[in-house]
Amino acid sequence: MAVNDSAADSSPSPAEVSRRDFLRQGATAGAALAPGIVLLSSGASKLSALTSSTVEYELSVGPRAAEPDGRRRNIWCYNGQLPGPLVRARLGQTLRIKVTNHLAVPTTVHWHGLHQPGTWQMDGVDRVSRAPIPAGGSFVYEFIATPAGTHWYHSHVGVQYGNGLFGPLVIDELAAPARYDREEILVINDWFLRPAEEILAALVGPHGRPMSGMKGPAMKSPAMKGAGMNGGAMTGRSMKGMDGKPDIGDVPFESALMNGRGRFAGTHAPLTSLRVKPGETLRLRLINASSTYQFRFQIDGHPLTLIAADGAPIAPIKVDNLVFSPGERYDAIVVADQSGSAWIRAATLAGDEARAVLNYADAPNAEPAPHSVTWGKTGLEPTSLRSPAAVSLVPHSREVVLRLGGTMRPYAWNINDEAYPHAAPITAAKDEWLRFVLDNPTGMDHPFHLHGHYFYVLGAPHRLNLVDPPQKDTVNVPARSQIVLLWKANNPGRWFFHCHIEWHAATGMARVVEIAER
Ligand code: C2O
Ligand code: CU
Repeated sequence: MAVNDSAADSSPSPAEVSRRDFLRQGATAGAALAPGIVLLSSGASKLSALTSSTVEYELSVGPRAAEPDGRRRNIWCYNGQLPGPLVRARLGQTLRIKVTNHLAVPTTVHWHGLHQPGTWQMDGVDRVSRAPIPAGGSFVYEFIATPAGTHWYHSHVGVQYGNGLFGPLVIDELAAPARYDREEILVINDWFLRPAEEILAALVGPHGRPMSGMKGPAMKSPAMKGAGMNGGAMTGRSMKGMDGKPDIGDVPFESALMNGRGRFAGTHAPLTSLRVKPGETLRLRLINASSTYQFRFQIDGHPLTLIAADGAPIAPIKVDNLVFSPGERYDAIVVADQSGSAWIRAATLAGDEARAVLNYADAPNAEPAPHSVTWGKTGLEPTSLRSPAAVSLVPHSREVVLRLGGTMRPYAWNINDEAYPHAAPITAAKDEWLRFVLDNPTGMDHPFHLHGHYFYVLGAPHRLNLVDPPQKDTVNVPARSQIVLLWKANNPGRWFFHCHIEWHAATGMARVVEIAER
C-alpha cells in the first residue's frame, strides 16, 4: 500500500521530477523552435503577429443571434463563433490573450486544463482568481502554455458557458505522440433554447427541477444514514426517474452540437461534416463542453485508439466508443479505411443522440442513411486508463474525504453538507501530497475538475491502481461509488475544485483549494 494516512512527504516522486524537468526543457525548446514569426496553422479568426515565443490572440465576447440546432436564440460567443476560435500554442510558449467584454454583464475566461504555474490569478475563475472583466472592459491574460494536449477555454462566471462561451485550446507537444496525417477537433456540447441563467433560475425556483426523478420525502440509502440531508435528499433517489429513463440530467435533453452544429428534432439544420481522404490517419481531439450531459461517442465502423486523456498521454486503448463527461477530453487515432460516409454519434446515456458526418473525399458529400445506432462491443472502461509507464507514488499523503450530496427542494448541491461559497477552503502546504476520497452516494454521476494540477486517478478504494494510474484533471465519479485521487499541491495559489455539471457547481458543489507559498 503506497498511500496511507500519515503526514505528507514533501519529496517529489521520480515521476514528478521528470515532469518538471520536461517542462523546463519544454520552455527552452519552445523558444528555440520559434525564433521568428510563428504562423498559426488553424483557421482561427485572426491573430496578431507574434514574437519569438509569445503567441497572441484576441477574443471578443459578445451576444449574437444564431440557430445552431435550427432554433433561433440569442447566444453569447467569442469572436462571433460557436465554438470560439481555436487557441493554440506550443508547449512552453507564452500565451497572451486580450479579452474584450461586449456583454452587458461581467465575464472571465478560464483555460481548462492549463496549469498556470505561478500565475493562478490568470485562471479566470470568478471571485477565486481575480475580479471578472466588467461589461465594456478588457483584460490581457498571460501565462505559459503547459501542459501539452487537448484542452478548452470557457467563461467561469455563473453558468455563462452554457450560452456558447467556450472554444478549443490546443497545446502542441514538442514531439508528436503518435503517427497521424492530420488532426480534427470535435467540440461536443449539449444545447438548450433558453439562456443558461433562466434554466438555473427555474431549477432553484419554487417549482424546482423541471423533470422526473424528484422523490418526495428524504430517502436515504443505507450507506448514507446520518449524512445530514435536508428534505428531498437526492442521495437515495432511484436511478430511474418517473418517466422510466435513467436519472442522468437535471435539465431535459433538447439537442447537442458538434463543432457548433446540431439538429433539434424536426428541423433540417445542417450538421458538421469532417471530410477525410481514403487511407489517411486522423488525430481526433474530443472535447465535452457540455453543461449537463455525458456523451457516448462513436464513429460508425471506425474504431478509436485513445492516446491521451485530458491532454496527458495514456497507454493506448482501442475502443469502438467511449463515454465522456463535461470537462473531459480524449485524443483518438482514427484510420479512415472505409468509404462513402459514416455517422459520427454522440448520445446521452438515455439514448438521445446528436450526429455529425464523416465524409470520404471521393464520395458525394451527403449524409449516410439515417439508420439507428448499433454501438460497437468495446467501450472505454475507466479502470483501463493507464499512464504509459509505471509511476512512483509517494508513501504518504493526507486524506481528505469529500462526500457529495444535494437536495431537490431547495435545489442545491454540496460537498460535506456545505454549499460553496458557504464553505471554508481546503488548505494545503506547498508540495504536500493529498489524497482526495470522493464519496458519491447520490443517484447521479458527478464529473469533478481540479484547476492548476493533474491528479492520479487511483480508482475505487478497494481496488486502487498504485502501479500506473492515469493523470487527469477531470474525473467522473459515478453514482453510488467512490474514487480516490492522489495529487501533489505543487502550484501555490487559489484553485477551484468542482463538479463540472454547471447546475451543480453553481448551487454549491465546489471548493476553493488554497495552496500556500512555502
Ligand atoms: Cu472547465 Cu472550473 O472549469
Ligand atoms: Cu455534479
